[in-house]
Amino acid sequence: MLKKLAEMIKTSENIVFFGGAGVSCESGCKDFRSADGIYKMNYKYPPESVLSHSFFEMHTEDFYDFYRKYLCFPDAKPNAAHYKLAELEKSGKLKAVITQNVDGLHQLAGSKCVYELHGSALRNYCMKCGKFHDFDFVYKSSGIPKCECGGIVKPDVVLYEESLNNDIIEGAVNAIANADMLIVAGTSLTVYPAAGLIRYFKGKNLVLINKDATAMDEKFGLVIHGKVGEILSKM
Ligand code: OAD
Repeated sequence: MLKKLAEMIKTSENIVFFGGAGVSCESGCKDFRSADGIYKMNYKYPPESVLSHSFFEMHTEDFYDFYRKYLCFPDAKPNAAHYKLAELEKSGKLKAVITQNVDGLHQLAGSKCVYELHGSALRNYCMKCGKFHDFDFVYKSSGIPKCECGGIVKPDVVLYEESLNNDIIEGAVNAIANADMLIVAGTSLTVYPAAGLIRYFKGKNLVLINKDATAMDEKFGLVIHGKVGEILSKM
């Protein structure tokens, strides 16, 4: 299977990568739905509900407590998957990375064309004056992070009940529609609209690299169950 993947990469000229939380697991981040994932954490509220807009509005302080504890990975560094994708982009083969992650690790590894469907924890904005603040501003504050103007500083991260940025969706759809190879990795493909974007792929090589099976495995021409960093580092 690795040979087949290598051959596909070799013969493709317009590769797009679509990833999720599993891509950052080899960097020490947690995914959401694995046995030790964020949604399996023992918290005073069901973790999945904490990441919703209404929870943010109603229990703002608890939201930040959960967010700092489980969604921030200040020491995470890019892993072999991030670096390989940046290398493939540099060589001209890979045209875009589309990610559901908010950790900025693709850019840190050197990727330039990155569509962040769910935003970025590295950007935080004041809900009152609009001023941007960095990751540390929110991570190192306690309670509800407040701007100098007194407004709440909110991570530029898409919560449930919030909509995705239209320009980012459009860019991602265009990239997928023009690709001759789509590598999907580290995602359970359960969250929409993100997971639905892969239906725009019309090319020949559709590949899934994931630790566990997903409900969509049969849609892929090549399925490799394993760790994406380990696998891509062998390409
Ligand atoms: P999930 O936690 O749902 O899925 C992660 C997938 O990655 C699982 O199927 C794992 O088997 C797999 N995985 C874990 N480690 C891996 C590795 N080293 N190599 C390959 N695969 C690995 O995460 P997402 O699909 O990204 O949204 O979740 C989608 C969205 O759900 C997230 O963006 C987040 C969450 O609610 C928001 O917060 C808006």
